[in-house]
Amino acid sequence: MNKRILLGITGSIAAYKTPELIRKLKEQLHDVRVILTSCGKAFVTPLTLQAVSQHKIYEELIDVEAEAAMSHIELARWPDCILIVPATAHVIAKLAHGFADDLLSTLCLASNARVIIAPAMNQAMWFNRATQDNVSLLKERDYLFIGPGDGAQACGDVGLGRLLEPLEIVEALSKIFVKPYLYNQRILITAGPTQECIDPVRYLSNRSSGKMGFALARAAVEAGAEVTLISGPVALTPPKKLKFISVKTANEMLSTVEQEISQQTVFISTAAVADYQIVNPALQKIKKSNAPLTLQLKPTIDILATVSQMRLEAKPLLVGFAAETEYTLQFAEEKRRSKNIDLMVVNDVSQTDIGFDSDKNEVTVLSSDVPIHLACAGKYLIAQQLLQIIANRIHNTEKC
Ligand SMILES: Cc1cc2nc3c(=O)[nH]c(=O)nc-3n(C[C@H](O)[C@H](O)[C@H](O)COP(=O)(O)O)c2cc1C
Repeated sequence: MNKRILLGITGSIAAYKTPELIRKLKEQLHDVRVILTSCGKAFVTPLTLQAVSQHKIYEELIDVEAEAAMSHIELARWPDCILIVPATAHVIAKLAHGFADDLLSTLCLASNARVIIAPAMNQAMWFNRATQDNVSLLKERDYLFIGPGDGAQACGDVGLGRLLEPLEIVEALSKIFVKPYLYNQRILITAGPTQECIDPVRYLSNRSSGKMGFALARAAVEAGAEVTLISGPVALTPPKKLKFISVKTANEMLSTVEQEISQQTVFISTAAVADYQIVNPALQKIKKSNAPLTLQLKPTIDILATVSQMRLEAKPLLVGFAAETEYTLQFAEEKRRSKNIDLMVVNDVSQTDIGFDSDKNEVTVLSSDVPIHLACAGKYLIAQQLLQIIANRIHNTEKC
């Protein structure tokens, strides 16, 4: 597979498993370079790691013997991914809060590479609120976690916190390093809600979190696509290695899509664009009074239908999302046909554990073929499955 993996080893007893991990990674033809923290050195020796990786081991941030003064920046540019195994509660806390007080944490800040973390710690440390909050923060920023596993721990406790076995880590990585099956595709994705001004301080909006669109954008980048993500206001960090455009209103989203659409091969509209906007929003804050307030609304322009009707040199594959609360499949199929959409992804937002603002989703994909049901799973996994369906559709069309 030939990935360049920068392996960060930190101060956990489980560090003794890392020479075996390096051996297994090299068997998969990955090039592995190692950064060892000063605590990590107490658990595994640089000499052992150097022998198995066949490279110099990086330990110091300030290395006066290094050939180039910026060697840590050079190193930050080298990897395809930074893999931290084992990752202590300490390094997870440092990454969550942006500390850069040693070589490993500085590189994680300085590098654009994906950071993948395999935690190892006592179960009480893992379940500690501080650790759990730090893990959530990092997941929101697209750090990937492999494990931890469950079972007997070195300290005698039993529970979650064990480092996964080297083979399990290698297998998890091979799923992460997916083949670039969307190579050569240019994908435009809209995400999140829009906000329609009532007055300078108030707006109409909806409960869309943007998580599905952001997951699709990240998975599409990883599958080799060139991605443009246009998002309404959300509390998410945009994935790396894509063009990100932030918008507020339905009108702004429409005009940005119109500017970006011409060279795209796929358009995925996950944004929950407001169906209505205020007629003449107030220029000054509306004063509170006891009288009822009537807002006059007018429909916004349907972005997906607009793109579907545009005269483009090459029409992109059009993928819509329909959030329904009743007669889910029937309403969604009507929308797909009336707007002339290739794929309509339907979710039932009346279920509170999936869809809007949830980390999970369960969808059915409607097309001119038989519907495909994707069982309830994390939004990233749903995103990967949807992109596979999109890729199959593109490749089948190319064959015709
Ligand atoms: C024997 C021993 C084993 C340890 N094992 C772990 C561990 O498995 N996980 C962990 O989070 N911390 C563990 N620690 C604590 C870390 O070594 C400590 O938090 C250290 O500051 C980590 O530094 P680093 O993350 O920069 O390597 C252990 C400490 C000792 C003395």
